[in-house]
Amino acid sequence: MLDLTPSRASLDPIEIASRDEIATLQLKRLKTTLRHAYENVPHYRKSFDAAGVHPDDCRSLADLAKFPFTSKADLRDNYPFGMFAVPREQVARVHASSGTTGRPTVVGYTKNDIETWSEVVARSIRAAGGRPGMICHIAYGYGLFTGGLGAHYGAEKLGCTVVPISGGMTERQIQLIEDFRPDIIMVTPSYMLALLDEFNRRGIDPRKTSLKIGIFGAEPWTNAMRSEIEQAFDMHAVDIYGLSEVMGPGVANECVETKDGLHIWEDHFYPEIIDPETGAVLPDGEKGELVFTSLTKEAMPVIRYRTRDLTRLLPGTARTMRRMEKVTGRTDDMMIIRGVNVFPSQIEEKLLTLEALSAHYQIILTRKGRMDEMEVKVEARVNAGDAAAEAGRELAHRIKATIGISARVSVHEPDGIERSQGKAKRIVDLRPKE
Ligand code: DLL
Repeated sequence: MLDLTPSRASLDPIEIASRDEIATLQLKRLKTTLRHAYENVPHYRKSFDAAGVHPDDCRSLADLAKFPFTSKADLRDNYPFGMFAVPREQVARVHASSGTTGRPTVVGYTKNDIETWSEVVARSIRAAGGRPGMICHIAYGYGLFTGGLGAHYGAEKLGCTVVPISGGMTERQIQLIEDFRPDIIMVTPSYMLALLDEFNRRGIDPRKTSLKIGIFGAEPWTNAMRSEIEQAFDMHAVDIYGLSEVMGPGVANECVETKDGLHIWEDHFYPEIIDPETGAVLPDGEKGELVFTSLTKEAMPVIRYRTRDLTRLLPGTARTMRRMEKVTGRTDDMMIIRGVNVFPSQIEEKLLTLEALSAHYQIILTRKGRMDEMEVKVEARVNAGDAAAEAGRELAHRIKATIGISARVSVHEPDGIERSQGKAKRIVDLRPKE
């Protein structure tokens, strides 16, 4: 694969500043943000007062731990615009989560916020190996979801030629990749696999496309999935992370030269890892729930927002900014099956070592009497023949041997599992609600 390491001169100086410089900037911005939230958002004034803390109590970065957390429920309770810290007229754009359960969560941006967001996404694309002048095919959904427009503004900011195709219309995606010859594709990893199927169906060798870089995120994916995509397309597969409440895509991104976890753009987003049960802050290196405080947002500052994503913080490598390990799951994606905690990523890793099975999968949870049952639906690769059934048995065996639970593995025909066009739905939970 091509060496796409960006030159030092092309980086923002803060990406490689000393830790002291970064911490000094963070503290200054943190103090301003706490004051901005307290003075302009009734919710924060109430929650700080209830916890007996005031923005003036923040004298060091560690003091942030004294402040209360913010959760998705707080955003829902203040639906639609109650978390905004500026008059609505100054909000240049809103986005919202899909809101499959209950009210959607709404987020807002001032013109400056959009500028900041564009900068961090441009920085992310550059870290992934992107350069001004490259063609960038954006297949994240456009609309209220932050993926499409967030990627779009960042790619334009970097100086790319943007193809804003959005998600869906798989055949058209393939046609435009063939005709426009993009260097970069930004899309969910699960939809990239659906595109891979379509290339194969049409008899086009995916290794011969123009694509050099894939910037994949919006859902968890494993290093095993990275190898699968990199080999299939002969391209770099790089991880991008973010969430609407904190900004959208571009909160953290992997560097193409190391691919060792995602550098958090710490000049704008301050990370903490907490014990999800007790809320205690954990030291770097320990695994727990990721919490973010925005450092520069105007329209909707977030203080200690609980992401529900599980990861750990690691020291910087290709940049001085700290890394987060690839997200392995969410606290609410954790399946407790007969008392054992299981994440879809554990199943994915095992599945991807089996040649006869494709990378598409879904987990169905049911309950018989008091017993939880797990079915893993997998799919034979084209021409796998009898080897697929054998691989299915092997997968069940490995799940039992390493995770410790019995799962029924059902092997479906090629294309037998529904494809996602955005975020994949890995778990279908049919258990009765208590
Ligand atoms: O998914 C923003 C985004 C768009 C990120 C495009 C990257 C690319 P939400 O819809 O608010 O925002 O969902 C946020 O998605 O809390 C994670 O659980 C998950 N997520 C996002 N990126 C990753 C990733 C966008 N790289 C939620 N790895 C987050 C694992 C991810 N999970």
